[in-house]
Amino acid sequence: MSNRNPPHRKPAAPAVVPRHVAVVMDGNGRWATRRLLPRTAGHKYGADALKRLVRGCVQHGVEYLTVFAFSSENWKRPADEVGALMELFVQALQRETPELAAQGVALRFVGDRAPLQERMRELMRQAESTPVEHPRLRLNVALNYGGRWDIVQAARAAQAEGVELTEESLARHMCLADIPEPDLLIRTGGEHRVSNFLLWQLAYTEFYFTDTLWPDFDEKSVAEAIADFARRERRFGRVPGKTSPDNGLRVA
Ligand code: IPE
Ligand code: IPE
Ligand code: MG
Repeated sequence: MSNRNPPHRKPAAPAVVPRHVAVVMDGNGRWATRRLLPRTAGHKYGADALKRLVRGCVQHGVEYLTVFAFSSENWKRPADEVGALMELFVQALQRETPELAAQGVALRFVGDRAPLQERMRELMRQAESTPVEHPRLRLNVALNYGGRWDIVQAARAAQAEGVELTEESLARHMCLADIPEPDLLIRTGGEHRVSNFLLWQLAYTEFYFTDTLWPDFDEKSVAEAIADFARRERRFGRVPGKTSPDNGLRVA
């Protein structure tokens, strides 16, 4: 009988899977333009890529997924593109909410809802209150979200509570304060920037950039990003192997 792990050899370490993955889904417009299609066609295909990402995350055992769907700054795009994006969100919510719940995916939205149409806000409320028994993945959709907006709303909430402004009191009011901060940020589309995504929450996140345009991002791409993460050494400001120095100096 073959013994794949003889006593002198340690079994392979289990793969390190990020608990929380955040994604800047970028490159839809360029994907469409290269195919001589309108930019909005890129957004449509981008919605399919999001479905693949969700499936991939469920398969790999990722617990939380936060995707950037529309930034505070995306209102500056041409009105027809903004309108088409909003329509796509409405259609996707109507179509996908039951399917996601059946897959064990619980939905939640982060961002400023005030400027959104009531029809959309109602669908968002419905999606968030759809019961999902034993969720396998919690999907957070950042819609009209900006990292600076998030910090300001958190500061206002802390001020309204009348507490002293500290890292802890502010952190308690940031969006997604109740879940672990992202372990891995993926940005597609070849740009190496944060574009006002989760500014506060990304303090110690590992960044993974790929030139793949968002509509081309598939199950293999998800696996590659997660495999890359498993090779990273996270230090959080410390020296590896020396986690609590007894040097009398301040240790967080
Ligand atoms: C990302 O793709 C989707 C949104 C911002 C809504 P883009 O539309 O930014 O695509 P590019 O970057 O112009 O190719
Ligand atoms: C970030 O992409 C926003 C989303 C993916 C929703 P952008 O395409 O808006 O970012 P910039 O303009 O290239 O920085
Ligand atoms: Mg872009």
